Amino acid sequence: MTDESSSVPRSGRTGAVDQTRARSSEPADEEALWRLYEAVEELDARSEGHRVDREVYRRMLGSRRNRSRARPRMLGRGEVAAHQSVVDSANFLDDLDTSTEAARSLLDVMRSRRSCRSFLPDPVPDSHRELILEAGRWSPSAGNAQPWEFLVVTEPAAKEALAEALALAVGTMRVLDDTFPGYANPRYVTTAPLLVLPYADMRCMAAYPYPLPREPRRHMLEQSMAMCIQNMWLMATRLGLGATNWTLGHPVVDSRIREQFGVPEHFVMSTLLVLGYPRHVPMPRPRRALEEMTHLECFDADRVRSDEELVEFFYEYGVRGRGFR
Ligand SMILES: Cc1cc2nc3c(=O)[nH]c(=O)nc-3n(C[C@H](O)[C@H](O)[C@H](O)COP(=O)(O)O)c2cc1C
Repeated sequence: MTDESSSVPRSGRTGAVDQTRARSSEPADEEALWRLYEAVEELDARSEGHRVDREVYRRMLGSRRNRSRARPRMLGRGEVAAHQSVVDSANFLDDLDTSTEAARSLLDVMRSRRSCRSFLPDPVPDSHRELILEAGRWSPSAGNAQPWEFLVVTEPAAKEALAEALALAVGTMRVLDDTFPGYANPRYVTTAPLLVLPYADMRCMAAYPYPLPREPRRHMLEQSMAMCIQNMWLMATRLGLGATNWTLGHPVVDSRIREQFGVPEHFVMSTLLVLGYPRHVPMPRPRRALEEMTHLECFDADRVRSDEELVEFFYEYGVRGRGFR
């Protein structure tokens, strides 16, 4: 390791990155990469603290064990009206056009969805914004815990500050691993009229079966968030909007973003949904053939890609490929 490489941030610190070095094309500093990896692992372990208060959790478990004490919760007056409107529209499955043609139109929306990274300045109408968030609200979630909180950002100054924090994350990662060519310039975030940051409340992991180890519970939380993001993204597509989900919110800059928007510690940012009318619609990225990924009745291990084939695929079709952009 050279002296210069010591400018790379140390474990757990959220220090500034030397931007000159961030642009350098020197090979990745592997030791620094491992230090960062360990720091990130440590951050995750510390997030164990972000759970429902032990006493509250114990009371919840106790009340379930003693079934006679577990009474169904009655809805309040306002809630009844709100819920009634949902129940009234809940027979929509009967009215739903279930023809193959109608299903194809849903598939058309899915196929039209792209990761858009440049936007026109036209604002997103409030009605569209509401539909997008509503699509998120109706997402499935593990244990129906609905772990999401939607932080909506439209102010130019806030977007600028956010892009600056993301640039720091990209800079850090470029220093540590410049073999990845797919880092986007976060400036485009400032051109998008609407940003939605779906934050996950980590305490919702208390809603899942507690004998499950932490990892599958974490997956349940993340899968809930992923479904919510996909719902919003598809609705945006249906409305003629473009979007990307920016997931490079590295923990190194996480604290900066938290501070900027006053996000409490126990919320994790799963992604940054960047939305607006696309300046241009990107070509569809290649997809693997359906037959190649489908295993009928039992898993056909012979058809599973080798490590070499997989890596080749990343370069041929994935973001690692030079022709990505
Ligand atoms: C979990 C996940 C994380 C992603 N993270 C990023 C990201 O941080 N920045 C970005 O520009 N695109 C990101 N993408 C977009 C992918 O690069 C994109 O979906 C993929 O290349 C296929 O292109 P398409 O979305 O246009 O079909 C992400 C997508 C997923 C599903």
